[in-house]
Amino acid sequence: MTHRIAVIPGDGIGKEVMPEGLRALEAAARRFGIDLALEHFDFASCDYYAAHGQMLPDDWFEQLKDADAIFYGAVGWPETVPDHISLWGSLLQFRRRFDQYVNLRPCKLLPGVKSPLADRKPGDIDFYVVRENTEGEYSSVGGKMFEGTDREVVIQETVMTRTGVDRVLKYAFDLAQTRPRRKLTSATKSNGIAITMPWWDERVKAMGVHYPEVSVDQFHIDILTANFVMHPDWFDVVVASNLFGDILSDLGPACTGTIGVAPSANINPDGTFPSLFEPVHGSAPDIAGRGIANPIGQIWSAAMMLEHLGHQDAGQAIVDAFEAVLSEGDPTVLTPDVGGHGTTETLGRAIAARIAG
Ligand code: NAD
Ligand code: IPM
Ligand code: MN
Repeated sequence: MTHRIAVIPGDGIGKEVMPEGLRALEAAARRFGIDLALEHFDFASCDYYAAHGQMLPDDWFEQLKDADAIFYGAVGWPETVPDHISLWGSLLQFRRRFDQYVNLRPCKLLPGVKSPLADRKPGDIDFYVVRENTEGEYSSVGGKMFEGTDREVVIQETVMTRTGVDRVLKYAFDLAQTRPRRKLTSATKSNGIAITMPWWDERVKAMGVHYPEVSVDQFHIDILTANFVMHPDWFDVVVASNLFGDILSDLGPACTGTIGVAPSANINPDGTFPSLFEPVHGSAPDIAGRGIANPIGQIWSAAMMLEHLGHQDAGQAIVDAFEAVLSEGDPTVLTPDVGGHGTTETLGRAIAARIAG
């Protein structure tokens, strides 16, 4: 069976880490005899916007909907296109129209990488953030009134639906059930945001009834961020609304030394539409063009994509390969964010060579 993969590099370091993501993907495909048909797209980037005045062609949905997965780099180039235009015109459309309602973001302290938290070693930080990915605080419901006057008002609603919240909670509980610790943490802010957040807590309680083996903790988001730093070992599966999940999934990887290694899977669990795999990080304009971005976030996303497509062994081989290369700790290979003076390409090539065996 051939898997059709839509490849979209995007902007900035997205264009630099994508070749290394593909190198790893192709090495794994060769080793495990997986047949991939890669289709490359230049849209969903600010270069495309410069040429066409929009982020996506009118028929983007038709062009992508039959792919088995989408492999994305990063998007955004605020110098030329305001972020809310580039992001709402691309990535956020994909997540919504393809109903990728789970954003699964592993957070793991990898061997050979130094945590900024004192005395933390591999094994101490190993959890998943399960982020609601299609509704919540990311809503287009709202507006502006009395613009330009001193009575100006802006409103943006948080939208939570029972279907939308229950389905992501179910995913998170199912995941927690498969983990040795069977522990689920829910992030809310029910003391201050007194309608949506207490309601989320009620939905967690209602879902928890079906999972008697899973222990459930609820934290307000403010102290939860503190506990990510103080006690990252407490966490196993952390489920959160769209915005809280976004914040936690940068903070978690920062506690593991660099956001450059963090992957994500934007999943449409029922398989009606393609799921999308991308690093957690953005286009990093501050380092773009220098060839020093860490490609592991992109490479690990390739592993998650292969696992999603049913190739657990190939996904695991990719993870084993980057863990081995990180453990070796050769500074001429590693990128600066993990203590080396190598490049995106030296690290990507070393990982691909490992995958090849
Ligand atoms: P960012 O993730 O691009 O960068 C934050 C910091 O992390 C920067 O200092 C950057 O150099 C560093 N960093 C990021 N990835 C790295 C890597 N692979 N290796 C080493 N260092 C890395 O976040 P930002 O600066 O807030 O956003 C830049 C642009 O990217 C904006 O346009 C933003 O909207 C967009 N963005 C896109 C996505 C996405 O495509 N999913 C995610 C986040 C931000
Ligand atoms: C992410 C990003 C996006 C988000 C932005 C760029 C819209 O930060 O994928 O985490 O907030 O979802
Ligand atoms: Mn983010």
